[in-house]
This record gives sequence, C-alpha cells and structure tokens, in this order.
Amino acid sequence: MENTDSFIEGLPKVELHLHIEGSLEPELMFALAQRNKVDIPFKSVEEVRKAYNFSNLQDFLDIYYQGMGVLQKGQDFYDLTWAYLERCKADNVLHTEIFFDPQGHTERGISFETVLNGITRALEDGEKKLGISSKLIMSFLRHLSENDAFKTLEQAIPYKDKIVGVGLDSSEKGHPPSKFERVFARAREEGFLIVAHAGEEGPPEYVWEALDKLKVDRIDHGNRSLEDDKLVTRLAGEDMALTVCPLSNLKLCVVKDMKDHPLKKMLSLGLKATVNSDDPAYFGGYMNDNYKAVTHALGLEEQDLLTLARNSVEASFLGDAEKKALLQKIDAYALESDQSCNTPTKKSTPAAGTDKKKNNP
Ligand code: ADE
Ligand code: ZN
Repeated sequence: MENTDSFIEGLPKVELHLHIEGSLEPELMFALAQRNKVDIPFKSVEEVRKAYNFSNLQDFLDIYYQGMGVLQKGQDFYDLTWAYLERCKADNVLHTEIFFDPQGHTERGISFETVLNGITRALEDGEKKLGISSKLIMSFLRHLSENDAFKTLEQAIPYKDKIVGVGLDSSEKGHPPSKFERVFARAREEGFLIVAHAGEEGPPEYVWEALDKLKVDRIDHGNRSLEDDKLVTRLAGEDMALTVCPLSNLKLCVVKDMKDHPLKKMLSLGLKATVNSDDPAYFGGYMNDNYKAVTHALGLEEQDLLTLARNSVEASFLGDAEKKALLQKIDAYALESDQSCNTPTKKSTPAAGTDKKKNNP
C-alpha cells in the first residue's frame, strides 16, 4: 500500500476535469467573504465542511453556486486559480485543463472579462513560476437556456486565444445535450474543441447525444455508458476519452462504495479512462487522493496507473510535441521504478512490460 502511494505521488500526471470554482477551499471562501464583505451562511470552516454531505448532483450544485458568491474581483479568481495550481505542484500534476462557469458569475453581475483575466493571469504565472502548463475550457450551464448559452459563446469568441474549448455542465437530468446542439455547432465553427458532461447521472442516451449531436472530443464522466454494450463498443472503437472522477462519484452517490467504482472495468473494456478531481474542495481530495482512493478500493496495479496517466496525456488538448514530451516523462518514470523494484533490497514484484497502445495491458 505504502509503495503504491509513493508510486502515485511520483507519477507525472495530467488533469482533464477540474472546475476551478470547485477548488474553492472553505478557508479561502471565508477569507474572500471577509475581503469582499459578502455574507455566507456558515460560522466556521468546520461548519462549511459539515455541510458537504450530498445525496446527489443537485444537492452539491446548490452549495457550489452559493459558494461562488464570494468571488467578486479579478484578484479573487487569480487567488482561487493560484491555490489550485499549488495543489497541482504538490501532486506532481504537470499539465491541467480546467473548466470555468462564466454564467455562474455573469448572472451575479461580474463581467466575463473580470473572470477570464483573473484565471488566465494565474495560469500564465503557473506556467512561468511552477512549470505547469494548462488549457482553459468554458462550460455552459445546462439548466439555463439555449439562448443564454449563445450569449455566453458570443462573449468568448474574442478570447479564442485564451479559451481552447467549450463544455457542458450543471444539472444533467432533464437537460440533454440535444438542448444545446445548435450552440455547439456554432462553437465548432468557431474552432473551439468540444467536451460535455454526460452519463454522470443521466442515461446512456445522453452520451450518444454528446457524441452524435455535440460531436464531442471527450466525454466528462461517462460512467453510465457501461449500461449500453453498443455504446461501449463505439467509445472504445473511437478511442474516446472519459474523464472519470472517483471521489466525486462517491460523494455524489453515483457509486455507493468505491469498491463498486467502474474504473477498472472501463480499462478492461478497452475504454480510454482517465482520473480527475472534478471539484476537489467539495469532494475530499485532489489528484493524488483520487488516484489513491480508487487504487486501494479496486486493487489497481502500477501498470494500470501508468495506463491511466498515459491516457490523460493522449486525451489532452496539447500538441503532438508536448504530448510526446510528457509521455517520455511517464516512460522514464516507469523505467526508473521498474529498476528500483528489481534491486534486491526492495521487496515488491517487478512491473510487467509496457504497451502504449493498449488501455489495459
Ligand atoms: N459542475 C461542477 N461539478 C459538476 C459535476 N460533477 N457535474 C455537473 N456539473 C458540475
Ligand atoms: Zn465535472
């Protein structure tokens, strides 16, 4: 166990599913509430943490939208993003692709530019000072209207140099991807890459719609795809990545127990699954915590962990040269730990050979 933990800690990682507003730790929430003189319905950090008990996605979203109320100025978005990047550094996350929810802020009177500039300034500093590369994805809130999403897309068009893609999040049930088919067609015309939350709580049909109507480049979550064999064949055949979020799934009761988590099954079915933290301040852990929780519960081996790390690089929106450089880092790490396992002083068994093409060696 200890060995696997240190293997996870040292593994070079990429994150592909992180809502920056979901990285707002209670301590920062309190500090910003004071700084901006915003009332929050909690007396202490402990009280906030106690409130983080969710029985479904909507339970969480209600608290998540309330929490973002403390974010008012560009500097608040900077501080939020910077704090997340420091957690990336601590967890050896070398590249991250983060979501932001502009409508969660513009509907409170905060300008699109205030949000965007605060986040991107921190991302630039993250690259310069911490050596962490990043991409930014703007998500539409699916409980709002198509018209609202169109307005938000128009706001993003002048900032295509800063926003690589568009996504779809918030309350899934009752808001199928097809509701936004025309907005995503326009986004694609503008050159944005496309992702969508699908199959987290919603049925496999929503994953089909994300593929066929939105023409996604990745599926966020996708857990419920496993209920439909034809869909699994399609996803595996297209090498379509799923950005899976183990601790989120546990906290939002998508799975009852981490032992029931479908990640290992996804890999064995040839799906390009990846591990991510979603809303780490609300769900109890960042990247290493997610890797560790699912590894302990499912008995994942070093080869599985390497596969997951490689999948994330391959599914990222980086260019070929950057992907190659990251894959080389993972290969070097695999080799190094293989060699240290083979030294007579260590007890653990050597890892099997690597096969980059297979999702589950
Ligand atoms: N917004 C933030 N986290 C989310 C999640 N897990 N699902 C849908 N929308 C979200
Ligand atoms: Zn999410």
